[in-house]
Amino acid sequence: MSAPDPVPSTTAALLDPPLHVAIIMDGNGRWAAARGLPRREGHRRGVEALRRAVRAVGELGIKILTIYSFSAENWTRPAEEIGDLMGLLKRFVRKDLAELHENGVRVRVIGERAGLDPEVLSLLREAEELTKSNERTTLIVAFNYGGRQEIARAARELAIDAVAGKIDPEKIDPAAIESRLYTAGLPPPDLVIRTSGEQRVSNFLLWQAAYAEFVFLPINWPDFDRTALEEAIGEYRRRERRFGGVTARAGV
Ligand code: IPE
Ligand code: IPE
Ligand code: MG
Repeated sequence: MSAPDPVPSTTAALLDPPLHVAIIMDGNGRWAAARGLPRREGHRRGVEALRRAVRAVGELGIKILTIYSFSAENWTRPAEEIGDLMGLLKRFVRKDLAELHENGVRVRVIGERAGLDPEVLSLLREAEELTKSNERTTLIVAFNYGGRQEIARAARELAIDAVAGKIDPEKIDPAAIESRLYTAGLPPPDLVIRTSGEQRVSNFLLWQAAYAEFVFLPINWPDFDRTALEEAIGEYRRRERRFGGVTARAGV
């Protein structure tokens, strides 16, 4: 009789998954360039990777997935590329919304809505409205999102309330700011994954990721799959989160 197969290292990822995983989906352009293809093709394949990611998150029992789909700074890209990205977003919502809904996914969109194309805006609203009572997984789409802009917006709202006499400026604390972020009421990410090998935050969840663990994967986003997600979770589980305190391991 042969020895039993060793427990696959990825099993640990399944046992105690992080509650909230956030992903900076980066490297579509490089994926395409490496194959002599237009950037648009990289973005198209990136949507397929997103589908795999949402499926894997559901299978692994992760409750919240936040994806960085378009940053406040991405408007500086050429108009043609912006058009491609908007087209893909619209197609994704049109094609995938029913299936997401059937799979118990609740869609939330974070980011600045003022000034967005009305068609994009109404599709995003439709996705949120249709899925608002779903409970299996929450998919937070960061679209036209910037962390600095989000914090500035919270500060602006607090200032307006202070001038109107509705709040005491002396009492403004982190909780007051948090309650005015796009993510109010949602738990912060435990794990932030960035693909493409780039090791920077690019204005993503600046406030919320204060104590997140960061895992940088060397693959480009169109190559992302469940195995890559399990690898990132395995790495996350090897980390020791301290939140500024002293733990048994650190205290000896
Ligand atoms: C991520 O891929 C998609 C978006 C930022 C919208 P990129 O388009 O940034 O690809 P690279 O970084 O140029 O390879
Ligand atoms: C971050 O990627 C934004 C998204 C993934 C949507 P970028 O490609 O825009 O970031 P930089 O420019 O390399 O920092
Ligand atoms: Mg990039």
